[in-house]
Amino acid sequence: MTTSIPLGTEMFSLAGKSVLLTGAGGAIGSVLARSLAACGARIGLQDITESKVLGLAAEIEAAGGTALTFGSDLSSTDACVSLIADAQAAMGSINVLVNCAGINRRKPIDDVTPDDFDAIVAVNMRAVFFLSQAVHPIMKAQGGGTIVNISSLSARYSFNTISVYAATKAAVTSMTRSFAREWVADGIRVNCIEPAVVQTEFTAPLWDDPKRSVWFQEFTPMGRLAQPHELVGAVVYLASDASSYVTGQSITIEGGILAGADWDANQGD
Ligand SMILES: NC(=O)c1ccc[n+]([C@@H]2O[C@H](COP(=O)([O-])OP(=O)(O)OC[C@H]3O[C@@H](n4cnc5c(N)ncnc54)[C@H](O)[C@@H]3O)[C@@H](O)[C@H]2O)c1
Repeated sequence: MTTSIPLGTEMFSLAGKSVLLTGAGGAIGSVLARSLAACGARIGLQDITESKVLGLAAEIEAAGGTALTFGSDLSSTDACVSLIADAQAAMGSINVLVNCAGINRRKPIDDVTPDDFDAIVAVNMRAVFFLSQAVHPIMKAQGGGTIVNISSLSARYSFNTISVYAATKAAVTSMTRSFAREWVADGIRVNCIEPAVVQTEFTAPLWDDPKRSVWFQEFTPMGRLAQPHELVGAVVYLASDASSYVTGQSITIEGGILAGADWDANQGD
């Protein structure tokens, strides 16, 4: 069968697409924002306060891109619904939603309070659900769209002190499958990435601690943490037509952790 498909990097282009990115002012969000804009997207930058993304928007505009800014606390479901309405009104369309906002409060299970539990669930899980629900009629009316969720390797491989966070990320990976299945007939693709530890302030308690840092390097087959830019390729792939036959999937970005262990390690010479 002969078809006219874009060749090379053209299939990763986001030209003409409006992308709404939550948590855009964060370490990973800001790198994704610059990259999605560089691929041609008109980008809506959301964070808990608009001031967190104004500088980023100016930078993207100075580089020739188009960026709009939104401030909203996504722990409120009403704010999630309003954000989608505001972004649709300002951008005229939402072709891609990237759910990147997230929080963690590291504590042993015995110390987790109901407030900790609710706060983490509200941003990491409930907001992803209701932002997606709110964008569904918009994408359906447009004839399709793409949702990319920033889940975590902790969805399938936990560490101590992150029990609630890991549960919310497992929920994000699960919702990715459920939403993909339910909305496939509307032309909406839903996928996620599951990064291991990325070197950001969020994970400073790990890499800033000499003992934990060495432990994690030894634990990871690639011998180091990920850098934020190492998530870009997968997100652009999932956001763009390059992944047009991919839905309900999780891409792990984890330096080989799930590939297995080295049984010769620590055996001496
Ligand atoms: N850093 C890692 O190792 C790692 C690994 C896997 C997944 N992730 C995920 O990647 C995403 C970004 O992480 P990061 O390391 O860049 O962290 P970050 O703290 O730098 O970024 C998170 C952003 O979310 C925003 N945010 C938090 N609460 C919010 C709320 N109530 N309403 C609106 N925005 C809110 C923050 O203001 C911040 O800008 C998170 O979802 C995180 O769970 C991070």
